[in-house]
Amino acid sequence: MSATAVATACLPVLGRDVRVPLVTGGEVEYAALDYAASAPALQRVWDDIAAYAPYYGSVHRGAGYLSQLSTDLFENSRATVAEFLGCRADDQVVFTRATTDSLNLLASVLPAGTDVYVFETEHHAALLPWQQREDVEVHYLSAPRSPRAAVEVLEAALAARTGDGPALLCVTGASNVTGELWPVRELAAAAHRHGARIVLDAAQLAPHHPVSVAELDVDWVAFSGHKLYAPFGAGVLAGRADWLQAAEPYLAGGGASRKVARRADGGVDVEWHTTAARHEAGSPNVIGAYAIASACKALTEAGFDRLVERERELIARVRDGLAAVPEVKVLSLFGDDADRVGVLSFVVDGWNSSHFAAALSAEYGIGVRDGLFCAHPLLRELLGADDSEQGECGAPEAEPGERSLNAIRISFGAGTPDEHVDRFVSAVRTLVRDGAAWSYRTEDGRCVPAS
Ligand SMILES: Cc1ncc(COP(=O)(O)O)c(C=O)c1O
Repeated sequence: MSATAVATACLPVLGRDVRVPLVTGGEVEYAALDYAASAPALQRVWDDIAAYAPYYGSVHRGAGYLSQLSTDLFENSRATVAEFLGCRADDQVVFTRATTDSLNLLASVLPAGTDVYVFETEHHAALLPWQQREDVEVHYLSAPRSPRAAVEVLEAALAARTGDGPALLCVTGASNVTGELWPVRELAAAAHRHGARIVLDAAQLAPHHPVSVAELDVDWVAFSGHKLYAPFGAGVLAGRADWLQAAEPYLAGGGASRKVARRADGGVDVEWHTTAARHEAGSPNVIGAYAIASACKALTEAGFDRLVERERELIARVRDGLAAVPEVKVLSLFGDDADRVGVLSFVVDGWNSSHFAAALSAEYGIGVRDGLFCAHPLLRELLGADDSEQGECGAPEAEPGERSLNAIRISFGAGTPDEHVDRFVSAVRTLVRDGAAWSYRTEDGRCVPAS
């Protein structure tokens, strides 16, 4: 694809024309390169929400026209998401707040005695919910150094299993640190061979790649609207209905209950819904759900495969640019040949990562993230840290030149113009060669320009 064709394929997002001041004087267009944390809203999503807003009404509750319309919109959004995710006919799509909420919901419905398997490399949202359940055993799998090793580690763990109760693997589709793709299809096949189920954490995969629940043969998938260009407070858990229906509701309240009656003994009997509503107690976030559906449609209509292709070119551009700077070390679990999405973390010799990120922002108008990215065990593995080395998000105690356990992450996607990526590569080169043009200090756990 020619450079011109690539440039035209960038989808319109909000915030593209926002200008930010530079500490060195003047201002520039903000380069949002932190999509992995939260991506900007697609213009299409914003327009759809604005068009619906005057018709906003209660969902599943009102007899009025706008309530009916809003209820239809909410339920149609569910159907759109199911289609986007390639769900099976009997899968349920539950609207949640985000991926963290989705995975905690799934943890809450696990049958007692479930063995949960999770790689230590996961984002904390996928690593931690399971240990909240005292009647579930969590098995942490060590960091694999290739996709093939991931399957082998899982196979060995499942083969060594002694119990015959339910088992679940939770795995990410794409790492929020390295951007590397995990062998989801192979892991699903291995899990199923051993009678285990699998939930795919697609928080970083779904915004970058088509995901098909049926084709990957995963039992559930979770993702967040705010990483999929739909930042209106909703997320999704989609997949098998049986465990969801058999368990108590995640939240008790209206919307989840079909019938409630006082008992003669003074208590209250409840009949819960067996649909997705069972786990959606309270008034649903119709704007959030509709925004996700709108983003799903926008990505599909834009030609998701074309977006993937374009993102590959941007990834190559960033990787080639950084490879030309010997002081930069890109973090990788699976090596150079791994397939990846537009998420990449690195450290720079002689620089504290917070200092480097602060300079990118203050001197070049580039927004990246620094820290441990809510994946502390993975960062320790990638940075070769020993257990005594303290790591925290930000660099609260470190001076600008001092080492601390953290890295810099750049991430981008369908709304990223070439110029943002090119400005980033050029800024890295200049910072490494010439140093920062300003001085910085640490304040409230953040590295900021000294005034
Ligand atoms: C791989 C992965 N899983 C889960 C999450 C949690 O997502 P959220 O904060 O939207 O709940 C994130 C967020 O960064 C993530 O990158």
